[in-house]
Amino acid sequence: MKLKSLLVAIMLFALIGITPCVAANIIPYPQSVELNEVVFNKAKLHKVKYVKDKKMAPEAYELQIKKNKIIIKSADAAGRFYAEQTLAQLASDDVMYCGVIKDEPRFQWRGLMLDESRHFFGKEQVLTILDLMARYKLNRFHWHLSDDQGWRVEIKAYPNLTKIGGIGCNTDSKAPAKFYTQDEIREILAYAAERHIMVIPEIDMPGHASAFVKVFPEFDGKNRTVNPANEELYKVLETIYKELADLFPGNYLHIGGDEVSKRGWNDLAGMKELLEKENLKSMNEVEKYFNRRLSDIIVATGKRVVAWDDLIDCGTNPEGKTIMWWQCDKPLLLAEGVEKGFDMVVCPNDPFYLDYVQDIKDKVGHLVHRQWVNEMKEIYEYPIIDNPKIIGTQTNIWTEKVVTTDRLEYMLFPRVVAQAEKAWTKSKNLNYKNFLERLENEYKYLDSVNIYYYDFREDKRREEPQR
Ligand code: ACM
Repeated sequence: MKLKSLLVAIMLFALIGITPCVAANIIPYPQSVELNEVVFNKAKLHKVKYVKDKKMAPEAYELQIKKNKIIIKSADAAGRFYAEQTLAQLASDDVMYCGVIKDEPRFQWRGLMLDESRHFFGKEQVLTILDLMARYKLNRFHWHLSDDQGWRVEIKAYPNLTKIGGIGCNTDSKAPAKFYTQDEIREILAYAAERHIMVIPEIDMPGHASAFVKVFPEFDGKNRTVNPANEELYKVLETIYKELADLFPGNYLHIGGDEVSKRGWNDLAGMKELLEKENLKSMNEVEKYFNRRLSDIIVATGKRVVAWDDLIDCGTNPEGKTIMWWQCDKPLLLAEGVEKGFDMVVCPNDPFYLDYVQDIKDKVGHLVHRQWVNEMKEIYEYPIIDNPKIIGTQTNIWTEKVVTTDRLEYMLFPRVVAQAEKAWTKSKNLNYKNFLERLENEYKYLDSVNIYYYDFREDKRREEPQR
């Protein structure tokens, strides 16, 4: 009986001229893949015809592979670029098949955050990360450039921010100053732009501000914060963010806003007067006041505000502002942000933080003593509902315990690859088992570009770099 059905199926295929579909090693997986068993002539890989189709969605593409030529349709340059990424993956297989791939992203914000304050990795490593982001169609590089351990972006108006604020890192408070000059940043930005990646700089305020306070002790707010009651502070911040707005061409500036200790604020110079003048009743209200003022400064530069979820109830107008939901123990914040009208990016620390280990056997990592493990599968299968105010998702890596580039790569890859598929691929096409099969090919690619990734295959595990 079974044999009979098989014969009928084969006859049917023969009759109507359809050949069975073949699998494709593409990550992130496209919206629809229809490849047949006709083999593409790889000598014709350069024969690509580009067609502009204004009706297509932003970043979407259609890739037609005929025996001796390729046609790429898209509305914009990003769609064309993503078609080329897909093509490069297909071409790396021994045999490339003909057919049609239609594709568009699920989310407009497909991000990765790198903390270079705790440890500084430098231009070459950032370019490597941008290359890999592009391969997997990630399009937002969130760059954490200031924190307690160091200030990493040159500000022409205040050279001491890097000269003095750039000294030290998480493992050595006296390490020589490390930072990016504006010329280096422009070089990185151009490289990112060629890969359709927007770079979003973050200057974290009013907490995580020790490096800033080292340069401006007059603005010390105690416990690693600035003094929100000092009017001069806002003038300095205005100058800094204005310079950043001119330097970074993207639409967004990230103002941080997370984990602010207000324990010392009551006694700060000017605080009594500020409470009276603004009719503020508590230090929580003062924090909100600061966040509103800083948001206004950003809006005045013409950019959009991005901030951590700590800022969600500060009373700023949510129009055009983006909140990153990071506190997994406050799950209602996502719905609250959506309801208020913010654009929301989903990145709860469980499981989207990559400074947590991915393997229970690993020894170094955030909260490893509590056996906190952020496995790749959890990232891949994390449920995100469809809602127009949820604009995307990203993984974040804090680098207190990441000193070397080997460890950085080990923590990033391949979890970032899983995250990229989560961010791009429509949920109906997500399948972890199938993803792991396609990942086999990507291990080969990561080997070819010398990435020290964590290998999920039991028999191929690598040493965990301890620093
Ligand atoms: C954060 O992890 N403090 C945003």
